Amino acid sequence: MKLAARVGRIVPSPTLSITATAKAMAAQGIDVIDFASGEPDFDTPEPVKAAAEAAIRAGFTKYTPSSGIEELRRAIADKLNTEQGLQYDTSQILVSCGAKHSLYNVAEALLESGDELIIPVPFWVSYQDQTLLNDATPVLLQTQEHDGYTIDQEALEAVITPRTKAIIVNSPGNPTGATYDRKTLEGIADVALRHDLVIISDEIYEKVLYDGVQHVSIATVSPEVAARTVVINGVSKAYAMTGWRIGYAAGPKALLTAMANVQSQSTSNPCSISQKAAVAALRLGDPFTKMMVEEFDRRRRVMVDGLNNIQGVTCRMPTGAFYAFPNTSGVLSRRWKGQPIGSAAGLATYLLNEAHVAVVPGEPFGSGLHIRLSYATAMEAIERGLTRIEAALGRLS
Ligand SMILES: Cc1ncc(COP(=O)(O)O)c(C=O)c1O
Repeated sequence: MKLAARVGRIVPSPTLSITATAKAMAAQGIDVIDFASGEPDFDTPEPVKAAAEAAIRAGFTKYTPSSGIEELRRAIADKLNTEQGLQYDTSQILVSCGAKHSLYNVAEALLESGDELIIPVPFWVSYQDQTLLNDATPVLLQTQEHDGYTIDQEALEAVITPRTKAIIVNSPGNPTGATYDRKTLEGIADVALRHDLVIISDEIYEKVLYDGVQHVSIATVSPEVAARTVVINGVSKAYAMTGWRIGYAAGPKALLTAMANVQSQSTSNPCSISQKAAVAALRLGDPFTKMMVEEFDRRRRVMVDGLNNIQGVTCRMPTGAFYAFPNTSGVLSRRWKGQPIGSAAGLATYLLNEAHVAVVPGEPFGSGLHIRLSYATAMEAIERGLTRIEAALGRLS
């Protein structure tokens, strides 16, 4: 059978496959510590579960409007208005099966062969593959660890060509945990306005922030910028609802209408029950998320301090999301059984096999020197995992 060429350009999501390997090892009775999966370890809040149960009991189990129920789209529009001062009509909001699906709808509606999408490096794994799946070309914009992975306006200008269609902005970012301040976002917006670029602003970690950092959506820079920005968000990370699969996009009407048409011909509506649950989540306000983020903050410090105490490893303190992204270049030349570890991928394999600690290697995020560890896991697991990593690295020669 001859498959479409586009599937040959992509790989399965590495974060999902490492998590699956760790789970398979655990199922064999191996005590694996999982720092790979990118989801809160908290349970979905009770009022959200109750809303889902009520939806089932009330028979709210049929197709809904393809773009999502009006009640949820209204709740999202209200959230964007009260929290960010952004004004959208509900026709400019599309509810999808997770923020990943929202991003995919953007890629399908916007990109075609010959188009270039600028992706700042390090990047969340799916940006690149979703671009390739839609026949467009990812253009990687290198950012620097020493200045907090900020986007430099000159460096951005340098990668723009007549084919550049859009740029991804992901703050707070996965895998680095970096956040952009308003000045940085104004710089990006300025370039986007001058070069007529669409801005795809992935704000899924919007509420997972530390050290008093405030979230800024690039769409708030000016109405002209909002008119060329599609904001992506969802309930997965803020309300511990990764399995419910509700994400959303808000933005210019022409793009959102095209995305809605794509969705109506592909998945139809997102799960009716999950939509009711998402309404309840958005009504929760911030107390649940704040409680969760306070706990992540404690774990963040233990994880990052612990990594920095390991010889050969250095780790920036992230200001958002729930990942540590340590630089492991100091250990990559070390050897195990005579063979050099060599790369982040080699290190992740070594840690999984020899320390039973699952981490994601940096390569799929665009760095061969880093590994990603999620600290959205129990403090006890973080402490044990760090001890194991230190001991395992100490066994290298
Ligand atoms: C940066 C980023 N964007 C989007 C998503 C997708 O989120 P969802 O679970 O809502 O599809 C993730 C999930 O890991 C992410 O890290």
